[in-house]
Amino acid sequence: MIGNDIDKAIQLLQAGELVAIPTETVYGLAANAFNSDAVASIFKAKNRPFFDPLIVHTNSIANISGWVEDFPENAKILAKSFWPGPLTLVLKKKDSITDIVTAGNETVAIRIPNHPITLELLGRLDFPVAAPSANPFGYVSPTTAKHVEDQLGNKIPYILDGGNSTVGIESTIISFATETPTVLRLGGIAIEIIEDIIGKVNININQNSNPQAPGQIDSHYAPSTRFIVGEIPKLKPSDTTTEEVGVITLSKQIDWALPQNQVQLSKNNDLNEAASNIFAAMRILDKKKLKKILAEPMPNEGLGLAINDRLNRAAYKL
Ligand code: TXA
Ligand code: MG
Repeated sequence: MIGNDIDKAIQLLQAGELVAIPTETVYGLAANAFNSDAVASIFKAKNRPFFDPLIVHTNSIANISGWVEDFPENAKILAKSFWPGPLTLVLKKKDSITDIVTAGNETVAIRIPNHPITLELLGRLDFPVAAPSANPFGYVSPTTAKHVEDQLGNKIPYILDGGNSTVGIESTIISFATETPTVLRLGGIAIEIIEDIIGKVNININQNSNPQAPGQIDSHYAPSTRFIVGEIPKLKPSDTTTEEVGVITLSKQIDWALPQNQVQLSKNNDLNEAASNIFAAMRILDKKKLKKILAEPMPNEGLGLAINDRLNRAAYKL
């Protein structure tokens, strides 16, 4: 059920139930991070493997000292610069954070999301919430309450509606468990901006070719329709009639594809706007049950890198 009742969401979370919550990146599937049974039910609802750890969400930096061994200076600088916002910090954990949240890792991922409703909710709870994106494992992340309902509506008691997620792609994840900070996922804050503040970072976004390791899975964010990334003119199909092909571009129109099967992510070539539209575009075209969806790569700058990461994982097949 979708609604605006924060009191109800609070009561459900306190009772160990799941609630989908709005954030500026994507909707999350939240449970009390200190209730292992509640956290376990997140994995069950999403059909998510237990080796994939969850992000702990809170509303205040002050809470974090109880959960981490070490909060390095550069991590604090990023936290102060970007929180609340689309940044997740991976830090060495204390025992107060249980293994089910971190998949047995020595580190915990933490984020303060930037959404007024969810910040109010978190402020009124006396525990943080663990929350992955509110989609079945491997599928496209939800950026509206309706997206959540379409796929998980029968598995969770309540979806708190906070409108469209404005950033539209998940948070940038950066680990401080290593000597040099390491980006584990490209996301809502561009690497250039992070490096302007703390200097050079390592990037290790493909660590999950070993699926035992935390982080990202190669095949992810995937629509059911066959998804292909490349220069659209070169991908004009010869084996399928062009009416059965969907197209995602930054701003161009493709003359041989049907207008209703095309999504332009940003008419002004604005990569932030493109990020906010990418997952909805995948969903809209996936619903049409076309033969395939073609997507052009974005420019490799700003949020373009994070969008390309999503496109490539959507296209990846084992
Ligand atoms: O924007 C976001 O981050 C959204 C919203 C809801 O906050 N959440 C989200 O969660 O994207 P999820 O579970 O879909 O993706 C979290 C990623 C996973 O790839 C997981 O492996 C990684 O974070 N992760 C979590 N804890 C980690 C840890 N301790 N070390 C390394 N990676 C971790
Ligand atoms: Mg996810």
